[in-house]
Amino acid sequence: MNIPEPQIDAKLIDEMAKGYQAAQVLFTAVDYDIFTLLEQPKTAKVVSEEIGTDFELTNKFLNALVALKLLSETDGKYANTTLAGTYLVKDSPFYQGNLINMYGQSYNEWPKLGLALKGEPQKPGEMKNTFDKAFILSMAEANMRGPLHRLVKKIRDIPEFKTAKKLLDLGGGHGLHAIAFAQLNPNLKAVVFDLPPVVEVTKEFISQYEMEERVKVMAGDFDKDDFGNGYDVIFVSHSIFYHTKETIHEPLDKIYEALNEGGILISNHWMHDDGKNSSTLALWDLWLSTLGHPHNVYPAKDFVDLLKEKRFSDVRMLNISTSEDPSTIVIAKKEVQ
Ligand SMILES: C[S@@+](CC[C@H](N)C(=O)[O-])C[C@H]1O[C@@H](n2cnc3c(N)ncnc32)[C@H](O)[C@@H]1O
Repeated sequence: MNIPEPQIDAKLIDEMAKGYQAAQVLFTAVDYDIFTLLEQPKTAKVVSEEIGTDFELTNKFLNALVALKLLSETDGKYANTTLAGTYLVKDSPFYQGNLINMYGQSYNEWPKLGLALKGEPQKPGEMKNTFDKAFILSMAEANMRGPLHRLVKKIRDIPEFKTAKKLLDLGGGHGLHAIAFAQLNPNLKAVVFDLPPVVEVTKEFISQYEMEERVKVMAGDFDKDDFGNGYDVIFVSHSIFYHTKETIHEPLDKIYEALNEGGILISNHWMHDDGKNSSTLALWDLWLSTLGHPHNVYPAKDFVDLLKEKRFSDVRMLNISTSEDPSTIVIAKKEVQ
């Protein structure tokens, strides 16, 4: 028998199976803050002395980072590539270190998938407190690499946004959306509502962008506390899908009541939208469902129907999804009575 030859390349499977190797090198490099260290090019000897590691092994480690296109090497000195300089150096506005650490933590959880599939409830495990500072920073980082800019470009053309004077960013976390909206619309005053420890982080972002005059914070729990009223726009991004189909009614009713007549809800969430499914969304949905995390993915149609049931009208969808950020914007209006 002749040795058979495959008719299809195994590259995709190979990349999946050993993806953890490159990921682990990245997690370790971020942990040692290699890229901030290499803002000035350095030899392996200097790097190993500065981080207190074995020289020979550090040399191989840096070579692996070169092979992964995060570093370059010239005359024995290692330096960041543009990619690493943009996203992995701590003082860059696009730094991704907290987000990368968060993915790193989830590596402890994925091995439970096999058991979880049998319906055995799995505890969320090693993941840290969901809404701590590192989580809020990681949400800011996820936005700063592109989703925030794509979203803002869509929102700026919405007529109701252009004339809006008061906006609520509900569960706004870092507050970057509210800050960007206020920068786009000079007549807009924005309020970021979030849990008391979170708004302390929000204040740091507001101060960083010098928007204290027009972007304020309000501390509270949107399930229990009043979040004000008289809003022309209420923006909710990745914050109300912690609610299930059974419990989401209450925040949606509160949002409706808090809006001015003619005002709009702008929702930005990852949703199932047949035909536009991404592996990011499918894997995240699987992770949430099997490994016990309290977030939900709705089919877009169900969410639209729910808003109509809640008396919203003129419900529109704007697709801004990419393979890394499969977000769908849904806009819904509170009619003038
Ligand atoms: C995934 S983050 C999204 C942050 C931001 N809106 C974004 O899109 O990047 C969820 C946010 O909702 C906030 N949140 C969740 N439940 C909340 C509640 N019951 N009351 C107030 N804020 C809440 C969290 O503190 C967190 O800032």
